[in-house]
Amino acid sequence: MPNSSDSAQSFMVDRLVIFGATGDVVSRLFLPALVGLVQESTFPRNLSITAIARKSWSTEQYHQHVRETFRKQGTDVESDQLEYLFSCIQYAQVEDLSHIQRVQEALGSSPFVAYLALPPSTFSMVLNTIKQIGIPQGSRIIFEKPFGENFGSARTLNYQAHQIFPEEQVFRIDHFLGKQTVRNILGLRFGNRIFEPIWNQHHIENVEIIWDETLALEGRVGYYDKAGALKDMIQNHLLQLMCLIGMEPPISFNDRDFRDRKVDLLRAVRSLTPDEVKQQTVRAQYDAGTINGKAIPAYKDEDGVDADRGTETYAEIKLWIDSWRWAGVPFVLRSGKALGKDRKEVLIHFKDVPYLAFGESKEIQRNILRLQFSPDSLNLSLNLNGAGDPFQLNPAELKSQLAPQDTLPYGDLFLNVLANDPILFIRADEVEELWRIIEPIQSGWEQDQVPLFSYPAGSLKPKDSFKESH
Ligand code: BG6
Repeated sequence: MPNSSDSAQSFMVDRLVIFGATGDVVSRLFLPALVGLVQESTFPRNLSITAIARKSWSTEQYHQHVRETFRKQGTDVESDQLEYLFSCIQYAQVEDLSHIQRVQEALGSSPFVAYLALPPSTFSMVLNTIKQIGIPQGSRIIFEKPFGENFGSARTLNYQAHQIFPEEQVFRIDHFLGKQTVRNILGLRFGNRIFEPIWNQHHIENVEIIWDETLALEGRVGYYDKAGALKDMIQNHLLQLMCLIGMEPPISFNDRDFRDRKVDLLRAVRSLTPDEVKQQTVRAQYDAGTINGKAIPAYKDEDGVDADRGTETYAEIKLWIDSWRWAGVPFVLRSGKALGKDRKEVLIHFKDVPYLAFGESKEIQRNILRLQFSPDSLNLSLNLNGAGDPFQLNPAELKSQLAPQDTLPYGDLFLNVLANDPILFIRADEVEELWRIIEPIQSGWEQDQVPLFSYPAGSLKPKDSFKESH
């Protein structure tokens, strides 16, 4: 491992090299976020960007491709701001990322931030190329998620990356940590006195973390067919949400204290046994259906899908955290594509009151704290006395709409990379823990220990999924 005293802190980096510049994540999430930085005047002065992809294009053709993609995906940006961004972007064709000379030309000789917006299967090869080239001091690397394809490959990638970059110059991205509402979980839990005394197994019955999307494959077959919902959403985004809900209070919000507490939580998550994988996980794939009046073909009939692979587009798992705080509280994590409704929320279900002096009341419901991410809001369901019979209970809801985020998640995170602040990125040991939790599920599914159910596109969820708690 290089000497960590070669800290990137003292190096100004004003070059970004995007590998995989024609991919979905770049056009859907990263470039719009950079336009957002231009709009807010936080776009780094003097930043120059090299966009690398395979196509034999000129810089103008690449810009045209981005304009066209934005139009198709409905990304609404001010054209003068987009043109300003383009004035910073040069395109470079690199057909083969193991080609040392071509990659070297694209990387240049001053410190850079390399952003690998590529499928995880290619990371190792790119690292190998970069190792042979060598890096200017202070250079940094951003890995798009998922980092690796399983526990073993993540560990190997960590080793390979550390041969070139010290850990503090490695940024494993999870854009959920760039979402303001996700970070609001920290404010809610650690900035208020009222929640901590009840934030445990004495008062919480169960937790649901739900990310249902109406989006279907959206032309991402090359990546998605090899990933599936478990690796695309649960291994990273949903487990991050679980970390923030479940972690112990950190002693400070510096990157070490914060990430140490997240890793503690992950280490307490029990690895599922093969039997538990059968009982506590659900996988499914969407069939033909209709979403918002639009006909959606079955996943297996989408162009480029390898039907034999049996990729899941819906994944649901139940996990247990073996700790004093969470013993016996199930955490259900689920995410699916091509569902009938966008539903992105965390639900904290509180236990029943120990005794109800009001007697039988049909209206009584459990208290639920609901953190909704799209649109961002915080809701708490309570039982209050109604207008009629003074001792009758009626459900009521406290709702708070949260202000929309100024900077898009990737914009915030990119600025953190330039500031060399890793707090919102996934640490090496953390990513290995994430894979340790997923590994038994992944292998049970690969061995067909769990049936692959199907659900019509546009349905609310597969009928074989877990019963919801409400
Ligand atoms: C990405 C996944 O990381 O997150 C996509 O690859 C998913 O499949 C997306 O649609 C969800 O994030 P957001 O911010 O669009 O809700």
